[in-house]
Amino acid sequence: MEFEGERDMMKKITAVLLALLLAFAALPVSAAEQADLTVAVASDLHFNLPEETLTYFTDDPVFGYANRRAAMENESGLLIDAFLEDAARQGADFVLISGDLADNGRSLPAEHFAVRDKLLAFEKKTGVEVFVIDGNHDLGDGSETDIEDFKEIYKDLGYDHALSARAEDCSYAADLGEKYRLIALDSCDPTVSTEDGMSAAKVAWVLKQARAAKEAGKNPILMMHHNLLDHLPAQRILSRNFIVRAHFTTAELFADAGIKLVLTGHEHCSDAAAFTSAAGNVICDFATTSLTMYPLSYRLFTFTNSEIAYASQTLRQIDTAALAAAVQGYTEEQLRLMDENLNGFAKEYLKKGVQYRLSLQLDAEKSGLTQGGALYTLLDSVYGRLKELLEMPLYGKGSVSELAAAYGISIPETPYATGWDLATEFVAAHYAGSENFDLRGPEVTALLRLASLILKNVPAQAIEEAVSLPELFSGETLANAKALARSVFGRVNPGEVFIAALVSDLVYGFTSDDALDDNNGVIEGYGSTNRAANLAENIAAFLKRLATAIKNFFSFFIR
Ligand SMILES: [Fe+2]
Ligand SMILES: [Fe+2]
Repeated sequence: MEFEGERDMMKKITAVLLALLLAFAALPVSAAEQADLTVAVASDLHFNLPEETLTYFTDDPVFGYANRRAAMENESGLLIDAFLEDAARQGADFVLISGDLADNGRSLPAEHFAVRDKLLAFEKKTGVEVFVIDGNHDLGDGSETDIEDFKEIYKDLGYDHALSARAEDCSYAADLGEKYRLIALDSCDPTVSTEDGMSAAKVAWVLKQARAAKEAGKNPILMMHHNLLDHLPAQRILSRNFIVRAHFTTAELFADAGIKLVLTGHEHCSDAAAFTSAAGNVICDFATTSLTMYPLSYRLFTFTNSEIAYASQTLRQIDTAALAAAVQGYTEEQLRLMDENLNGFAKEYLKKGVQYRLSLQLDAEKSGLTQGGALYTLLDSVYGRLKELLEMPLYGKGSVSELAAAYGISIPETPYATGWDLATEFVAAHYAGSENFDLRGPEVTALLRLASLILKNVPAQAIEEAVSLPELFSGETLANAKALARSVFGRVNPGEVFIAALVSDLVYGFTSDDALDDNNGVIEGYGSTNRAANLAENIAAFLKRLATAIKNFFSFFIR
């Protein structure tokens, strides 16, 4: 009996332990662990004062007002309002904005005043503090808004809480609650817009702030307008002014200073990138997309000791009645479409805006060439035919597919109506992040075959002359491009080599992404232990990553 009773007791204890274990296992980490901090991060607001009457650039009845920047300028103020409302609803403790607050901030301080007033009203209404830093659109030496003006205009939006500030630019550091400290770095060049203005002095200042934060028991978070890590393959080359100079060295120094999170903007894409220093410290750069362009999103970060969870938030609604009242010329259809599906509207607006800009740019003279040269003749011919083909329907009677069939090229089935529709889809995917086009899939294949078709319509002699220009292709690049073209098209003519070499870089960049999800995920928190102990292992892992990156980049050429 005694023995039986003991067994019953053991059974009960086991059942209770099991129940407890299951209860804990069911809890997500974030719920089990108290959140230290929640911040809403928006970037590149590019606020514009609305125009009196809607201007149309093309004859598209709905999206013809999409400008060459593809930014929703008239809607920008209402989108900022929608963001602030949403951030408060999501329970953000702080709102951070990583630059380009006003679109014409350099020349039109009135735009800054309007943004500032919105942010101050939000602070007053909700008690949530806003911290800003400047972007290249915000100020310039000798402009209507300079460094001093910016700091004066936004004095109650970060600078009022500054523990330390740089006199020579807009940088400052301020606490975000009990455990975190924001290092807001002015990464801009004060004279040349777009260019990064990183300097040894600025890097040293960040390192000093990170040290001071650690000494005060705070975790340092960096915010700056320019990107720290590549958000496109070889961004340093393809998008030179968007990433800070010496970015690998800088990332190495910042990671080892204990900065795990960097918040950036400028590139207008949603992308997350991670870098591990040789000492094993991980730093993540989150580029946040422009708030007033597709996908109309901002980021929400939730910090616990062990992890940082991030989620992209999409704006779903703006006050279209206020929009119609402020700007003359919106049709009922436009307002209805915005009310029904704001994000879908923004995507189409972006695609039409990009199409408008590219149509203007597809011009041999605008490419900096002078009439008469071999390259000018080629480009002039390619651009003309390209525009025609991009506007034609992709499928059906009188379509690109029909034309392609005459050359023995088949265009795979895709849901896109025209070449423009297909091509701009890749741009939209780049902005939205988490892009996952299959390099062998129908979209990419259709785009490449469309490109090859264009060459079939260009005078052969113009191509031969251009392809043989030594400054265009070294022997090795040409051989690799030939291998690529052979694998895509099955056969090679010089035109296909030329176009394959031109587009492969872009195709790779716009269709693939790294392991870290751009929009939703979890990275290690400030409380997680660093891996400095395993130096040899870390260096080996670093070299392996580098080799993989190089291999991935060239795999498109040499397979
Ligand atoms: Fe921007
Ligand atoms: Fe910018």
